Amino acid sequence: MGKIISFANQKGGVGKTTSAVNIAASLGILGYKTLLIDLDPQGNATSGVGVAKRNLKLTIKDVLAGDCVAKEAILETKFQNLSVLPANITLAGAEFDLFQEEEAPHEVIKKAFAEIKDEYDYLIVDCPPSLGMLTLNSLSASDGVVIPMQCEFYALEGLSQLMITIGKVKNHYNNSLNVTGILITMYTNRLLLTQQVKSELKKHYSGKLFDTHISRGVKLSEAPGFGCPVYYHDKRSKGADEYLSVAHELATRI
Ligand SMILES: Nc1ncnc2c1ncn2[C@@H]1O[C@H](COP(=O)(O)OP(=O)(O)OP(=O)(O)O)[C@@H](O)[C@H]1O
Ligand SMILES: [Mg+2]
Repeated sequence: MGKIISFANQKGGVGKTTSAVNIAASLGILGYKTLLIDLDPQGNATSGVGVAKRNLKLTIKDVLAGDCVAKEAILETKFQNLSVLPANITLAGAEFDLFQEEEAPHEVIKKAFAEIKDEYDYLIVDCPPSLGMLTLNSLSASDGVVIPMQCEFYALEGLSQLMITIGKVKNHYNNSLNVTGILITMYTNRLLLTQQVKSELKKHYSGKLFDTHISRGVKLSEAPGFGCPVYYHDKRSKGADEYLSVAHELATRI
């Protein structure tokens, strides 16, 4: 059975897309058939796997609008076992359109993915930086959530808000939803604050925190400019190694 995993955090710039792209690519390298689903009008996951955002014939927006089925919009990437359901700025109106749905507006994504779910081992969804209708839809369709976060002062506050939202979605819409893991991104052990936030996370969410953290690294920030996951940019980089190891952990959890 395919597993849908949302990469979500309402805070912007915490490493959702970097983690979704690189974990999806790492799962592919580990031999799992993987679909990366871009659910952000910024389209960063799309360009991150080498697909040009402009002039796409079909995107996830067309799927959500019911103008095509998911299968028709999916593109192969040049990376091992990795396909992508692309997005671009045309998705910007979708929050509003979803609100207009008369029947189960939170289940549009779940229905759209139902027929392709079992064609993949993992479906990795890169959510936008908000808890709006797109993210709610993704959580309603998901088996798990990965929460990428930076070790910053406000991060813990944001995390408890996100946990409450996930709990509500679980209670009202999707009983099978669980937090797969909290992933520390852009880690640098030089800062005292980083250490403090990490130990707070361990104290409150010990079972949920991935053993592996992702270090801040130049190769990781360079790779999207080349339209590829970090492993294909520099397979000996620390980022490639760490994301492979998180993917391995994830596959043992879900
Ligand atoms: N481990 C890392 N080391 C260095 N740079 C990183 C790392 N992770 C992410 N970045 C950079 O930080 C920025 C934000 O990362 P990313 O786009 O993945 O965050 P996001 O949560 O998806 O953002 P948004 O909320 O806008 O969707 C990007 O420029 C990315 O290249
Ligand atoms: Mg993003």
